[in-house]
Amino acid sequence: MEKIIDENKQGESLVLAQKEGNTKKLFIESYGCQMNFSDSEIVASILAHEGYNTTPHLEDADLVLVNTCSIRDKAEQTVRKRLEKYNAVKKINPSMKVGVLGCMAERLKSKFLEEEKIVDLVVGPDAYKDLPNLLSEVDEGREAINVLLSKDETYGDIAPVRLNSNGVTAFVSITRGCDNMCTFCVVPFTRGRERSRDPQSILNEVNDLWDKGFKEITLLGQNVDSYLWYGGGLKKDFDKASALQKATATNFAKLLELCAKTQPKMRIRFSTSNPQDMTLDVIETMAKFDNICNYIHLPVQSGSNRILKAMNRQHTREAYFELIDHIKRIIPDCAISQDMIAGFPTETEADHQDTLSLMEYVKYDFGFMFAYSERPGTLAERKMNDDVPVDVKKRRLNEIIQLQQKHGLYRTRQHIGNIEEVLIEKVSKKSEAHWSGRNSQNTVVVFPKENYTIGDFVNVKITDCTSATLIGEAVGYSENN
Ligand code: SAH
Ligand code: F3S
Repeated sequence: MEKIIDENKQGESLVLAQKEGNTKKLFIESYGCQMNFSDSEIVASILAHEGYNTTPHLEDADLVLVNTCSIRDKAEQTVRKRLEKYNAVKKINPSMKVGVLGCMAERLKSKFLEEEKIVDLVVGPDAYKDLPNLLSEVDEGREAINVLLSKDETYGDIAPVRLNSNGVTAFVSITRGCDNMCTFCVVPFTRGRERSRDPQSILNEVNDLWDKGFKEITLLGQNVDSYLWYGGGLKKDFDKASALQKATATNFAKLLELCAKTQPKMRIRFSTSNPQDMTLDVIETMAKFDNICNYIHLPVQSGSNRILKAMNRQHTREAYFELIDHIKRIIPDCAISQDMIAGFPTETEADHQDTLSLMEYVKYDFGFMFAYSERPGTLAERKMNDDVPVDVKKRRLNEIIQLQQKHGLYRTRQHIGNIEEVLIEKVSKKSEAHWSGRNSQNTVVVFPKENYTIGDFVNVKITDCTSATLIGEAVGYSENN
């Protein structure tokens, strides 16, 4: 079975955002990547100032917003199905307005208004500050659309409302957009050019989260290693910056260090790293600070040099191995996870074997694996034939998933007998009597509750495991508590 996080998961309906005096009700749900969930928190914050509180009940809503994903065709189909559901509810509540946000809004633009009669509002990822104006248009009976992409919008000045929060972990976005132009990927078209957020506004958000009791943050970007602040502006325009701007610029290693030092007890994670941009100083910074977690999500997509080239990934299999060797040398217990695509155009059986042998070398802790899905407008769609038959794609994907499961178990077994620090996040899905949290390596750990509570840092003795979960018993609070 295909293991896909963003498409199997039901879009979460997000609760909270209550501001006194607000009377209108917003139902907002998000699909796709973590950035979308983070963006919805910005949207809820903007609309809280416009009289909207969020509601968990679709039927009660004055305004329904769906934050959409375009990464694979299936993700778009899921959203289309949700629109049918909204349509049914609108029949009972005709004054309800429906808006589409995110990547599908950007990709389909006004086509959405033509194709889906139910939609009143279409807003791309860089235009959320225009929502108040767009909503007035809608109130006056007009359809409203803003899909302009921006050179400098980072929403750094907006304090996100934490939606559906466990009060312990939070996302902090640090870059928007992507300049990499991987040939299969729609993101550069839907989220625009890459720009970084002012480090001071990032640190302010981290401090605010700590003051509110949060214990772990994940710095978010399509390509965090390429973070570069030189006073604002696009990454691609850095060459034109002044000598002073260049000399005082903040790169990702520096930003990590600033975050780690500013809140030395806050756990820090980041996602996603791109192998072509990850530098040694990032790995060394991770090693230097105990509060930066020993985990790197390092998508590779394929193990074949020929396919990597066709995907416009700017590194070879050999360079990737070198990077893995550096990581394991500098941080021996660092966990590494992957994204893989099976069945990219022209992929042969030999290319697929290269992917399996790359996996064998790395033995990833976990991974997210997908069958190639052709996306309109991408270079792969324009220049290549989607020529790997569906059944072959599926078989290769299955082989990748099977191998990943084997490696997952190999990795989790190595934790047995260790005492590891776990941050408690929630009650275990499988048992009311157990807590669920994660260790530094991002592996889920479950253990009996005893007198501990959500938000505690606990030392847990690992006694058993599955291929994705560690099972143990608490032996006391950790020093960090
Ligand atoms: N840098 C991004 C990648 C976004 S897309 C990040 O922050 O995660 C997430 C993953 O979706 C990619 O790594 C890739 O494995 C997969 N993906 C992207 N486009 C795809 C496509 N057209 N077909 C199948 N999988 C795709
Ligand atoms: Fe997509 Fe490649 Fe950027 S996967 S998000 S174009 S790094």
